[in-house]
Amino acid sequence: MKFFLDTADLDEIREAASLGILDGVTTNPTLIRKAGARDFHEHIYQICELVEGDVSAEVTATDYEGMLREARELARIHERVVVKIPLIAEGIRAIKTLTEEGIRTNCTLCFSPTQALVAAKAGATYISPFAGRLDDVSSDGMRVIEQVVKIYRNYGFKTRVLAASLRHPMHVLEAALMGADVATMPFGVMMQLLKHPLTDVGLERFLKDWEAYLQAKQGVQTA
Ligand code: E4P
Repeated sequence: MKFFLDTADLDEIREAASLGILDGVTTNPTLIRKAGARDFHEHIYQICELVEGDVSAEVTATDYEGMLREARELARIHERVVVKIPLIAEGIRAIKTLTEEGIRTNCTLCFSPTQALVAAKAGATYISPFAGRLDDVSSDGMRVIEQVVKIYRNYGFKTRVLAASLRHPMHVLEAALMGADVATMPFGVMMQLLKHPLTDVGLERFLKDWEAYLQAKQGVQTA
């Protein structure tokens, strides 16, 4: 399973990359705004230079021609850029054309398995079902991801399932159990994944015992 960071914050990306477990980054207009990016294209370029993996950058046009124009510009920024296109009719048309041009796409704002089926038929590189936002409206977000994984396996679609809008480690665990190809998550969730209180307690005890062992050994040598 690949781990992507869902952020446009350069410091967070730098820190996650330094752990050696970062496979890519997803951004969206909200995250770009939050990061206070001065120049969108320049910011995406900087992210691409920090991570050895795919970096999703989203179009904001909602018409076919506009999406194609923005997508081609975004794809020129860096070879790692994957263009995020919303799952609307014009977006599906754009994905089909961009795929034929060799531009990789991440079909975003997916909330149902049938939407995901359409995106795969258009040739999207990634599909992003948003689990957390479905949970927010009392739907079962992870169930949708499970269904998407199953449908893609049934037909051998190459589109990769990018579990998105993950809000806590249990979302990541469930996505991994379901066989999602990628989990994109906020920096805090990625850090939570490696935490366990028993690890901290265990380490503290080992270090104390090691210290006691060294002192006892020194006592024997000086006696
Ligand atoms: C994915 O690509 C989206 O940027 C993201 O996962 C949305 O998450 P949110 O619902 O927490 O905003």
